[in-house]
Amino acid sequence: MAHIHKAYDHHHWLFMLIFLVLSYVASSSDPTEAATLLKFKSSLLNATALDNWTNATSPCNGKDNWAGLVCDNDGNVFGLNLSKMGLRGIIDIDALLDLSGLKTVSVMNNSFDGPIPSVNKLSSLVSFYLSYNHFSGEIPEDFFVGMNSLKKIYLDGNKFAGKIPKSLAALTKIVELDIRGNQFSGKLPNFPQNPKAWKTMNVSYNRLEGRIPASLRNSDPSAFLGYKGLCGKPLAPLKSDRTISCYGGGSGPGCGGGPGRDVTSVLLFS
Ligand SMILES: *[C@@H]1O[C@H](CO)[C@@H](O)[C@H](O)[C@H]1NC(C)=O
Ligand SMILES: *[C@@H]1O[C@H](CO)[C@@H](O)[C@H](O)[C@H]1NC(C)=O
Ligand SMILES: *[C@@H]1O[C@H](CO)[C@@H](O)[C@H](O)[C@H]1NC(C)=O
Ligand SMILES: *[C@@H]1O[C@H](CO)[C@@H](O)[C@H](O)[C@H]1NC(C)=O
Ligand SMILES: *[C@@H]1O[C@H](CO)[C@@H](O)[C@H](O)[C@H]1NC(C)=O
Ligand SMILES: *[C@@H]1O[C@H](CO)[C@@H](O)[C@H](O)[C@H]1NC(C)=O
Repeated sequence: MAHIHKAYDHHHWLFMLIFLVLSYVASSSDPTEAATLLKFKSSLLNATALDNWTNATSPCNGKDNWAGLVCDNDGNVFGLNLSKMGLRGIIDIDALLDLSGLKTVSVMNNSFDGPIPSVNKLSSLVSFYLSYNHFSGEIPEDFFVGMNSLKKIYLDGNKFAGKIPKSLAALTKIVELDIRGNQFSGKLPNFPQNPKAWKTMNVSYNRLEGRIPASLRNSDPSAFLGYKGLCGKPLAPLKSDRTISCYGGGSGPGCGGGPGRDVTSVLLFS
C-alpha cells in the first residue's frame, strides 16, 4: 500500500512539473518584460510615440507588438528600435538589464543629449545605434571592455570628442563602425581584424590625424573625407604642389616620420 502511495506521489510531482513547464511556454511572453519596459519609458520625455506601451496588451503578443519592439519567436524582446520618435530625457540602461534576450538597441534620430549612455552594461549586445542625436563628450578608454559580442557601432552625427577609445579598436567581431560627423581627434587606432571583414567603416568629418593604420588601408577613400591631417593609403599620395600637410605621425610634420614614410611626404618635407 505504502509502495503504491509513493508511486502516486511520484507521478503527482511529475504532472505538476509538466503542467508548470507547459503553462510557462503558453504564457508566450515574460510578464516582467512589460514592467521593465514601462520602467524604461518612465524616464523618457516626449514619449507620445510610445503611447501604446500600456498594461492593456503584452509587449510581444505576436500581433500588435508595442511600438519599436523587435520580438523573437518566443515572444521575448530581442531589440529596441526607437528611431525617429522625437524622444528626449534619460535612457535608463539599468532598466534594460532585465531584458535577457536584448541584442540590439537603436535610438537613432531623436534628441538625446549628454554623455554616451552606458550601453556597455548590456554585455551581450550585438549592435547599437546612437546616430543623429546630440550626444557629446569623451568616451572612456575602457568603455567597450567586455562587449565581446559587439559587431555594429553607430555613433555618427553627434558631438563625441576626444580619442577613439582603445577598447573599441580591440573588439574582435566588429564589422560595422560609423563615427562620421563627430569631433573625435588624435590618431586612428590599428584595428586587429582582417581589413576585408569590414562591411561599413566611415570615420569621415572628425578631427583625426596621422597615418591611416594598415587594417583600414583597403577601405574606400571616401571613408576618410573631411580631413587635412590624415595620410597614407587608401588616400591619394600628397602631390608636391599641394600645401596640405599630414601631422601627428611622429617627430614633426609629415606622415610617420620613420619607416613607411610616403615618398611624396619625403619630397614635401625633406
Ligand atoms: C501596470 O501594472 C502593474 C501591476 O501589474 C502596476 O504596478 C502598474 O502601475 C501598471 N502600470 C500602468 C502604466 O498602468
Ligand atoms: C503600437 O504601435 C505600433 C506602431 O504604430 C503598431 O505597429 C502596433 O500594432 C501597436 N500596438 C498596439 C498594441 O496597439
Ligand atoms: C528601425 O526602424 C526604422 C524605421 O522603421 C528603420 O528605417 C531602421 O532601419 C530600423 N533599424 C535601426 C537599427 O534603426
Ligand atoms: C515630440 O515627439 C514628436 C513625435 O512623437 C515630434 O514630432 C516632436 O518634434 C517632438 N517634440 C519635441 C519638443 O521634441
Ligand atoms: C536619420 O537621419 C539621417 C540624417 O538626417 C537620415 O539620413 C536617416 O535616413 C535617418 N534615419 C532614420 C532611421 O530615421
Ligand atoms: C562616408 O561618409 C561620407 C560623409 O557622409 C560620405 O560622403 C562617404 O560617401 C562615406 N563613405 C563610405 C565608404 O561610407
